[in-house]
Amino acid sequence: MKVLLLGSGGREHALAWKIAQSAKVEKLFIAPGNAGTQNVGENVDIKADDFEALKNFVVENGVDMVIVGPEDPLVKGVYDDFNNDERTKNVPVIGPSKSGAVLEGSKDFAKQFMKRHCIPTAKYETFDGTTVEEGLKFLETLKAPYVLKADGLCAGKGVLILPTLEEAKKEFKEMLGGMFGNASARVVIEEFLSGIECSVFALTDGKNYKILPEAKDYKRIGEHDTGLNTGGMGSVSPVPFATKEWMQKVEDRIIRPTVEGLAEENIEYKGFIFFGLINVEGEPMVIEYNCRMGDPETETVMLRLKSDIVDLFEGVAEGNLDKRAIEFDERAAVCVMLVSGGYPQAYAKGYEITGLDKIEDSVVFHAGTKMQNGKVVTNGGRVIAVSSYGKDKSEALQNSFTQAQKIEFKDKYFRRDIGQDL
Ligand code: AMP
Ligand code: GLY
Repeated sequence: MKVLLLGSGGREHALAWKIAQSAKVEKLFIAPGNAGTQNVGENVDIKADDFEALKNFVVENGVDMVIVGPEDPLVKGVYDDFNNDERTKNVPVIGPSKSGAVLEGSKDFAKQFMKRHCIPTAKYETFDGTTVEEGLKFLETLKAPYVLKADGLCAGKGVLILPTLEEAKKEFKEMLGGMFGNASARVVIEEFLSGIECSVFALTDGKNYKILPEAKDYKRIGEHDTGLNTGGMGSVSPVPFATKEWMQKVEDRIIRPTVEGLAEENIEYKGFIFFGLINVEGEPMVIEYNCRMGDPETETVMLRLKSDIVDLFEGVAEGNLDKRAIEFDERAAVCVMLVSGGYPQAYAKGYEITGLDKIEDSVVFHAGTKMQNGKVVTNGGRVIAVSSYGKDKSEALQNSFTQAQKIEFKDKYFRRDIGQDL
Protein backbone atom coordinates (compact mmCIF):
# COMPACT_ATOMS: atom_id res chain seq x y z
CA MET A 1 0.00 0.00 0.00
CA LYS A 2 0.90 3.60 -0.44
CA VAL A 3 -0.05 5.61 2.64
CA LEU A 4 -0.23 9.37 3.15
CA LEU A 5 -0.08 10.74 6.70
CA LEU A 6 -1.09 14.35 7.38
CA GLY A 7 0.63 16.50 10.00
CA SER A 8 4.04 17.62 11.19
CA GLY A 9 4.43 17.13 14.96
CA GLY A 10 5.73 14.55 17.40
CA ARG A 11 2.43 12.68 17.17
CA GLU A 12 2.89 12.35 13.42
CA HIS A 13 6.49 11.17 13.71
CA ALA A 14 5.34 8.50 16.18
CA LEU A 15 2.48 7.45 13.86
CA ALA A 16 4.83 7.44 10.88
CA TRP A 17 7.35 5.31 12.81
CA LYS A 18 4.62 2.77 13.56
CA ILE A 19 3.08 2.81 10.06
CA ALA A 20 6.51 2.33 8.47
CA GLN A 21 6.92 -0.93 10.42
CA SER A 22 3.88 -2.45 8.70
CA ALA A 23 4.59 -5.22 6.19
CA LYS A 24 1.59 -3.91 4.23
CA VAL A 25 3.22 -0.55 3.49
CA GLU A 26 5.31 -0.12 0.38
CA LYS A 27 5.57 3.66 0.55
CA LEU A 28 4.79 6.22 3.26
CA PHE A 29 4.37 9.92 2.51
CA ILE A 30 4.01 12.59 5.19
CA ALA A 31 2.53 16.00 4.40
CA PRO A 32 4.21 18.19 5.41
CA GLY A 33 6.21 16.17 7.99
CA ASN A 34 9.36 17.33 9.79
CA ALA A 35 13.08 16.51 9.90
CA GLY A 36 12.30 13.25 11.74
CA THR A 37 9.53 11.89 9.55
CA GLN A 38 11.83 11.93 6.54
CA ASN A 39 13.81 9.12 8.19
CA VAL A 40 10.80 6.78 8.02
CA GLY A 41 9.08 8.05 4.87
CA GLU A 42 9.07 10.78 2.27
CA ASN A 43 8.02 14.29 3.21
CA VAL A 44 5.71 16.07 0.80
CA ASP A 45 5.62 19.84 0.84
CA ILE A 46 1.85 20.28 1.12
CA LYS A 47 0.02 21.76 4.11
CA ALA A 48 -2.28 19.37 6.00
CA ASP A 49 -5.31 21.56 5.24
CA ASP A 50 -4.67 22.22 1.55
CA PHE A 51 -7.26 19.68 0.41
CA GLU A 52 -7.01 20.38 -3.33
CA ALA A 53 -3.26 19.88 -3.38
CA LEU A 54 -3.56 16.77 -1.19
CA LYS A 55 -6.19 15.21 -3.48
CA ASN A 56 -4.08 15.91 -6.55
CA PHE A 57 -1.11 14.29 -4.86
CA VAL A 58 -3.17 11.24 -3.89
CA VAL A 59 -4.44 10.80 -7.46
CA GLU A 60 -1.08 11.37 -9.13
CA ASN A 61 0.81 9.03 -6.79
CA GLY A 62 -1.78 6.26 -6.43
CA VAL A 63 -2.10 6.67 -2.66
CA ASP A 64 -4.32 3.93 -1.13
CA MET A 65 -5.05 5.39 2.30
CA VAL A 66 -4.91 8.77 4.06
CA ILE A 67 -4.34 9.02 7.81
CA VAL A 68 -5.04 12.29 9.55
CA GLY A 69 -2.87 13.31 12.54
CA PRO A 70 -4.08 16.75 13.74
CA GLU A 71 -7.61 18.04 14.42
CA ASP A 72 -7.48 21.04 12.11
CA PRO A 73 -8.01 19.24 8.76
CA LEU A 74 -10.66 17.03 10.37
CA VAL A 75 -12.65 19.94 11.74
CA LYS A 76 -12.34 21.58 8.30
CA GLY A 77 -13.82 18.44 6.71
CA VAL A 78 -10.97 16.56 5.01
CA TYR A 79 -12.93 13.28 5.29
CA ASP A 80 -15.97 14.72 3.49
CA ASP A 81 -13.87 16.55 0.93
CA PHE A 82 -12.16 13.33 -0.17
CA ASN A 83 -15.46 11.44 -0.07
CA ASN A 84 -17.31 13.97 -2.20
CA ASP A 85 -14.70 13.98 -4.96
CA GLU A 86 -15.14 11.34 -7.70
CA ARG A 87 -11.37 11.01 -7.98
CA THR A 88 -10.71 10.22 -4.30
CA LYS A 89 -13.99 8.83 -2.97
CA ASN A 90 -12.59 5.29 -2.88
CA VAL A 91 -9.48 6.28 -0.94
CA PRO A 92 -10.21 5.71 2.76
CA VAL A 93 -9.48 8.63 5.07
CA ILE A 94 -8.80 7.52 8.64
CA GLY A 95 -10.44 10.21 10.76
CA PRO A 96 -14.01 11.31 11.46
CA SER A 97 -16.27 13.20 9.09
CA LYS A 98 -16.71 16.92 9.68
CA SER A 99 -19.84 16.23 11.73
CA GLY A 100 -17.89 13.77 13.89
CA ALA A 101 -14.99 16.17 14.39
CA VAL A 102 -17.48 18.57 16.01
CA LEU A 103 -17.01 16.47 19.15
CA GLU A 104 -13.72 18.37 19.41
CA GLY A 105 -14.63 21.46 17.40
CA SER A 106 -17.50 22.53 19.66
CA LYS A 107 -17.41 22.08 23.43
CA ASP A 108 -21.13 22.84 23.57
CA PHE A 109 -21.91 20.10 21.04
CA ALA A 110 -19.73 17.63 22.98
CA LYS A 111 -21.53 18.46 26.24
CA GLN A 112 -24.97 18.13 24.63
CA PHE A 113 -23.94 14.81 23.07
CA MET A 114 -22.80 13.48 26.45
CA LYS A 115 -26.05 14.63 28.05
CA ARG A 116 -28.12 12.91 25.33
CA HIS A 117 -26.25 9.64 25.84
CA CYS A 118 -25.96 9.78 29.65
CA ILE A 119 -22.14 9.86 29.55
CA PRO A 120 -20.67 11.08 32.86
CA THR A 121 -19.31 14.65 32.64
CA ALA A 122 -19.35 17.88 34.67
CA LYS A 123 -22.63 19.81 35.03
CA TYR A 124 -22.70 22.75 32.59
CA GLU A 125 -24.61 25.49 30.73
CA THR A 126 -23.73 27.33 27.53
CA PHE A 127 -24.16 31.08 27.00
CA ASP A 128 -23.71 33.64 24.23
CA GLY A 129 -23.89 37.41 23.78
CA THR A 130 -27.66 37.38 24.29
CA THR A 131 -27.54 35.50 27.62
CA VAL A 132 -24.73 37.27 29.52
CA GLU A 133 -26.90 38.01 32.58
CA GLU A 134 -28.05 34.37 32.78
CA GLY A 135 -24.41 33.27 32.59
CA LEU A 136 -23.40 35.54 35.45
CA LYS A 137 -26.29 34.15 37.53
CA PHE A 138 -25.27 30.56 36.69
CA LEU A 139 -21.72 31.30 37.90
CA GLU A 140 -23.20 32.36 41.26
CA THR A 141 -24.75 28.91 41.69
CA LEU A 142 -21.34 27.19 41.35
CA LYS A 143 -18.49 26.76 43.82
CA ALA A 144 -14.91 27.94 43.20
CA PRO A 145 -12.84 27.35 41.16
CA TYR A 146 -14.79 28.27 38.02
CA VAL A 147 -14.28 26.60 34.64
CA LEU A 148 -14.92 28.65 31.48
CA LYS A 149 -14.50 27.12 28.03
CA ALA A 150 -14.59 28.81 24.66
CA ASP A 151 -16.92 26.73 22.49
CA GLY A 152 -14.61 26.59 19.43
CA LEU A 153 -11.03 25.51 18.73
CA CYS A 154 -8.37 27.73 20.34
CA ALA A 155 -5.21 25.64 19.94
CA GLY A 156 -5.56 24.35 23.51
CA LYS A 157 -5.83 27.81 25.07
CA GLY A 158 -9.62 28.17 25.31
CA VAL A 159 -10.12 26.88 28.86
CA LEU A 160 -9.82 29.22 31.84
CA ILE A 161 -9.94 28.08 35.45
CA LEU A 162 -10.54 30.99 37.79
CA PRO A 163 -10.15 30.97 41.57
CA THR A 164 -12.74 33.67 42.44
CA LEU A 165 -16.28 34.52 41.34
CA GLU A 166 -15.18 38.08 40.58
CA GLU A 167 -12.46 36.94 38.16
CA ALA A 168 -14.77 34.35 36.61
CA LYS A 169 -17.42 37.00 35.88
CA LYS A 170 -14.84 39.36 34.39
CA GLU A 171 -13.25 36.70 32.14
CA PHE A 172 -16.66 35.35 31.14
CA LYS A 173 -17.63 38.80 29.81
CA GLU A 174 -14.26 39.16 28.07
CA MET A 175 -14.56 35.77 26.42
CA LEU A 176 -17.99 36.63 25.03
CA GLY A 177 -16.55 40.01 24.03
CA GLY A 178 -14.14 38.27 21.63
CA MET A 179 -11.12 37.22 23.71
CA PHE A 180 -10.71 34.21 21.40
CA GLY A 181 -12.45 35.76 18.41
CA ASN A 182 -15.36 33.78 17.07
CA ALA A 183 -14.28 30.68 19.04
CA SER A 184 -15.55 32.31 22.24
CA ALA A 185 -18.80 33.69 20.80
CA ARG A 186 -20.31 30.93 22.92
CA VAL A 187 -18.92 29.97 26.31
CA VAL A 188 -19.49 26.78 28.30
CA ILE A 189 -19.46 27.26 32.06
CA GLU A 190 -18.99 24.03 33.96
CA GLU A 191 -18.59 22.58 37.38
CA PHE A 192 -14.97 22.02 38.48
CA LEU A 193 -14.00 18.37 38.85
CA SER A 194 -11.18 17.35 41.14
CA GLY A 195 -9.03 14.31 40.33
CA ILE A 196 -6.17 12.96 38.23
CA GLU A 197 -6.52 13.05 34.45
CA CYS A 198 -5.96 10.18 32.06
CA SER A 199 -6.14 9.98 28.27
CA VAL A 200 -7.92 6.98 26.79
CA PHE A 201 -7.98 6.26 23.06
CA ALA A 202 -10.23 4.15 20.89
CA LEU A 203 -10.09 3.43 17.20
CA THR A 204 -13.52 2.89 15.65
CA ASP A 205 -14.96 1.89 12.29
CA GLY A 206 -18.27 3.46 13.31
CA LYS A 207 -19.63 0.27 14.83
CA ASN A 208 -16.78 -1.73 16.36
CA TYR A 209 -13.95 -0.28 18.38
CA LYS A 210 -10.57 -1.21 19.80
CA ILE A 211 -9.22 0.42 22.94
CA LEU A 212 -5.55 1.44 22.79
CA PRO A 213 -3.17 1.69 25.77
CA GLU A 214 -4.05 4.62 28.03
CA ALA A 215 -1.57 7.39 28.88
CA LYS A 216 -1.18 10.41 31.11
CA ASP A 217 0.25 13.65 29.80
CA TYR A 218 1.92 16.53 31.61
CA LYS A 219 0.60 19.88 30.43
CA ARG A 220 2.25 22.54 32.57
CA ILE A 221 5.66 23.97 31.72
CA GLY A 222 6.98 23.82 35.29
CA GLU A 223 7.83 20.86 37.49
CA HIS A 224 5.10 19.72 39.92
CA ASP A 225 2.49 21.03 37.47
CA THR A 226 3.21 24.72 37.86
CA GLY A 227 3.28 27.59 35.37
CA LEU A 228 1.62 27.97 32.00
CA ASN A 229 -0.11 25.29 29.98
CA THR A 230 1.81 23.80 27.04
CA GLY A 231 1.02 21.38 24.25
CA GLY A 232 2.42 18.67 26.55
CA MET A 233 5.76 18.12 28.26
CA GLY A 234 5.76 14.34 28.50
CA SER A 235 3.61 11.26 28.93
CA VAL A 236 3.57 7.86 30.56
CA SER A 237 1.78 4.60 29.79
CA PRO A 238 0.34 2.59 31.48
CA VAL A 239 -1.39 4.73 34.11
CA PRO A 240 -1.47 2.91 37.50
CA PHE A 241 -5.01 3.94 38.48
CA ALA A 242 -6.37 2.77 35.12
CA THR A 243 -6.84 -0.76 36.45
CA LYS A 244 -8.80 -3.43 34.61
CA GLU A 245 -11.83 -2.58 36.74
CA TRP A 246 -11.54 1.16 36.07
CA MET A 247 -11.07 0.60 32.33
CA GLN A 248 -14.18 -1.59 32.33
CA LYS A 249 -16.15 1.37 33.74
CA VAL A 250 -14.63 3.57 31.04
CA GLU A 251 -15.69 1.13 28.34
CA ASP A 252 -19.21 0.55 29.68
CA ARG A 253 -20.08 4.12 30.64
CA ILE A 254 -18.08 6.15 28.14
CA ILE A 255 -16.56 4.38 25.13
CA ARG A 256 -19.44 2.12 24.10
CA PRO A 257 -22.14 4.78 24.63
CA THR A 258 -20.05 7.23 22.59
CA VAL A 259 -19.60 4.89 19.62
CA GLU A 260 -23.27 3.84 19.79
CA GLY A 261 -24.38 7.44 20.18
CA LEU A 262 -22.46 8.49 17.07
CA ALA A 263 -24.04 5.64 15.08
CA GLU A 264 -27.53 6.44 16.38
CA GLU A 265 -27.13 10.04 15.32
CA ASN A 266 -25.84 8.99 11.88
CA ILE A 267 -22.52 10.72 12.46
CA GLU A 268 -19.87 9.05 10.28
CA TYR A 269 -16.84 8.34 12.40
CA LYS A 270 -13.98 6.14 11.21
CA GLY A 271 -10.93 7.07 13.19
CA PHE A 272 -9.50 7.76 16.63
CA ILE A 273 -11.55 9.05 19.52
CA PHE A 274 -9.57 10.61 22.36
CA PHE A 275 -11.36 10.58 25.70
CA GLY A 276 -9.87 13.17 28.05
CA LEU A 277 -10.93 11.66 31.39
CA ILE A 278 -10.65 12.57 35.03
CA ASN A 279 -10.77 10.08 37.88
CA VAL A 280 -13.17 11.50 40.47
CA GLU A 281 -13.05 9.30 43.57
CA GLY A 282 -12.63 6.17 41.47
CA GLU A 283 -15.25 7.11 38.88
CA PRO A 284 -14.20 8.14 35.34
CA MET A 285 -15.76 11.31 33.94
CA VAL A 286 -15.22 13.02 30.59
CA ILE A 287 -13.43 16.38 30.54
CA GLU A 288 -13.30 16.57 26.75
CA TYR A 289 -13.36 14.65 23.50
CA ASN A 290 -10.75 15.03 20.79
CA CYS A 291 -11.19 13.62 17.30
CA ARG A 292 -7.54 12.48 16.93
CA MET A 293 -4.70 10.99 18.95
CA GLY A 294 -3.06 12.99 21.74
CA ASP A 295 0.33 14.61 21.56
CA PRO A 296 2.58 13.64 23.45
CA GLU A 297 0.48 10.57 24.37
CA THR A 298 0.99 9.04 20.90
CA GLU A 299 4.75 9.07 21.56
CA THR A 300 4.17 6.45 24.30
CA VAL A 301 1.01 4.72 23.02
CA MET A 302 2.71 3.75 19.72
CA LEU A 303 5.56 2.12 21.65
CA ARG A 304 3.04 -0.04 23.49
CA LEU A 305 1.02 -1.09 20.45
CA LYS A 306 2.41 -4.40 19.23
CA SER A 307 -0.06 -5.04 16.40
CA ASP A 308 0.28 -3.80 12.84
CA ILE A 309 -1.44 -0.40 12.94
CA VAL A 310 -2.14 -0.50 9.19
CA ASP A 311 -4.05 -3.76 9.65
CA LEU A 312 -6.20 -1.93 12.22
CA PHE A 313 -6.66 1.00 9.81
CA GLU A 314 -7.79 -1.45 7.12
CA GLY A 315 -10.33 -2.79 9.61
CA VAL A 316 -11.57 0.78 10.11
CA ALA A 317 -11.85 1.37 6.37
CA GLU A 318 -13.58 -1.94 5.68
CA GLY A 319 -15.87 -1.84 8.72
CA ASN A 320 -14.52 -5.10 10.14
CA LEU A 321 -12.36 -3.88 13.00
CA ASP A 322 -13.87 -6.64 15.15
CA LYS A 323 -11.96 -9.17 13.01
CA ARG A 324 -8.57 -7.55 13.67
CA ALA A 325 -6.29 -8.45 16.55
CA ILE A 326 -4.85 -5.86 18.90
CA GLU A 327 -1.92 -6.65 21.18
CA PHE A 328 -0.01 -4.50 23.63
CA ASP A 329 3.57 -4.50 24.82
CA GLU A 330 3.57 -5.21 28.56
CA ARG A 331 6.52 -2.91 29.15
CA ALA A 332 6.08 0.67 30.36
CA ALA A 333 6.72 3.56 27.99
CA VAL A 334 7.46 7.19 28.79
CA CYS A 335 8.12 10.31 26.77
CA VAL A 336 10.11 13.34 27.88
CA MET A 337 9.68 16.41 25.70
CA LEU A 338 12.64 18.71 25.05
CA VAL A 339 11.40 22.24 24.45
CA SER A 340 12.80 25.62 23.40
CA GLY A 341 13.73 28.05 26.19
CA GLY A 342 10.90 30.54 26.69
CA TYR A 343 8.16 28.20 25.48
CA PRO A 344 5.12 28.39 25.79
CA GLN A 345 5.74 32.13 25.47
CA ALA A 346 8.12 33.71 22.94
CA TYR A 347 11.08 31.53 21.92
CA ALA A 348 13.70 31.47 19.19
CA LYS A 349 13.88 28.98 16.31
CA GLY A 350 16.68 27.79 14.06
CA TYR A 351 19.17 26.48 16.67
CA GLU A 352 21.22 23.49 15.58
CA ILE A 353 20.36 20.21 17.32
CA THR A 354 23.27 17.85 18.00
CA GLY A 355 23.66 14.44 19.61
CA LEU A 356 20.77 12.79 17.78
CA ASP A 357 23.21 10.19 16.44
CA LYS A 358 24.30 9.21 19.98
CA ILE A 359 20.90 7.89 21.08
CA GLU A 360 20.73 4.29 22.29
CA ASP A 361 17.80 2.47 23.92
CA SER A 362 15.32 5.28 23.22
CA VAL A 363 13.19 6.28 20.27
CA VAL A 364 13.53 9.91 19.33
CA PHE A 365 10.50 11.57 17.76
CA HIS A 366 10.87 14.99 16.21
CA ALA A 367 8.16 17.49 17.18
CA GLY A 368 9.36 20.90 16.01
CA THR A 369 12.41 20.46 13.79
CA LYS A 370 13.41 21.08 10.21
CA MET A 371 16.40 20.58 7.94
CA GLN A 372 18.39 23.70 7.17
CA ASN A 373 21.59 23.53 5.10
CA GLY A 374 21.94 19.84 5.88
CA LYS A 375 21.55 20.33 9.64
CA VAL A 376 18.59 19.56 11.92
CA VAL A 377 17.46 22.79 13.60
CA THR A 378 14.76 23.73 16.11
CA ASN A 379 11.55 24.85 14.49
CA GLY A 380 8.95 24.99 17.27
CA GLY A 381 8.31 25.23 21.01
CA ARG A 382 8.23 21.49 21.50
CA VAL A 383 11.31 20.21 19.70
CA ILE A 384 12.11 16.54 20.42
CA ALA A 385 10.27 13.77 22.24
CA VAL A 386 12.53 11.20 23.85
CA SER A 387 10.49 8.00 24.25
CA SER A 388 11.71 4.90 26.05
CA TYR A 389 10.65 1.47 27.18
CA GLY A 390 11.38 0.06 30.61
CA LYS A 391 10.36 -2.96 32.65
CA ASP A 392 8.54 -0.35 34.71
CA LYS A 393 7.99 3.41 34.64
CA SER A 394 11.15 4.22 36.65
CA GLU A 395 13.38 2.27 34.32
CA ALA A 396 11.78 3.87 31.26
CA LEU A 397 12.22 7.34 32.80
CA GLN A 398 15.84 6.61 33.61
CA ASN A 399 16.40 5.72 29.94
CA SER A 400 14.71 8.86 28.64
CA PHE A 401 16.52 11.20 31.02
CA THR A 402 19.90 9.66 30.18
CA GLN A 403 19.28 10.09 26.43
CA ALA A 404 17.76 13.56 26.92
CA GLN A 405 21.13 14.77 28.27
CA LYS A 406 22.87 13.77 25.04
CA ILE A 407 20.71 15.88 22.76
CA GLU A 408 21.84 19.49 22.73
CA PHE A 409 20.43 22.73 21.43
CA LYS A 410 20.63 26.26 22.80
CA ASP A 411 18.29 26.91 25.75
CA LYS A 412 16.96 23.34 25.83
CA TYR A 413 14.54 22.67 28.70
CA PHE A 414 12.68 19.60 29.93
CA ARG A 415 10.74 18.58 33.01
CA ARG A 416 12.56 16.14 35.26
CA ASP A 417 9.48 15.13 37.23
CA ILE A 418 7.48 13.36 34.50
CA GLY A 419 5.56 10.41 35.94
CA GLN A 420 6.54 11.14 39.53
CA ASP A 421 3.02 11.94 40.72
CA LEU A 422 1.75 8.45 39.82
P1 AMP B 1 -9.90 20.89 27.86
O1 AMP B 1 -9.39 21.75 26.74
O2 AMP B 1 -11.38 20.76 27.91
O3 AMP B 1 -9.17 19.58 27.96
O4 AMP B 1 -9.46 21.62 29.19
C1 AMP B 1 -8.11 21.89 29.44
C2 AMP B 1 -7.75 21.45 30.84
O5 AMP B 1 -8.55 22.17 31.78
C3 AMP B 1 -8.05 19.99 31.13
O6 AMP B 1 -7.04 19.14 30.71
C4 AMP B 1 -8.21 20.01 32.61
O7 AMP B 1 -6.95 20.01 33.25
C5 AMP B 1 -8.85 21.34 32.87
N1 AMP B 1 -10.31 21.20 32.98
C6 AMP B 1 -11.20 21.29 31.99
N2 AMP B 1 -12.45 21.11 32.43
C7 AMP B 1 -12.35 20.90 33.76
C8 AMP B 1 -13.31 20.64 34.80
N3 AMP B 1 -14.61 20.60 34.58
N4 AMP B 1 -12.83 20.45 36.05
C9 AMP B 1 -11.50 20.51 36.30
N5 AMP B 1 -10.56 20.76 35.37
C10 AMP B 1 -10.98 20.95 34.12
N1 GLY C 1 -2.14 15.88 25.05
C1 GLY C 1 -3.38 16.50 24.89
C2 GLY C 1 -3.79 16.73 23.50
O1 GLY C 1 -3.22 16.19 22.57
O2 GLY C 1 -4.76 17.44 23.30
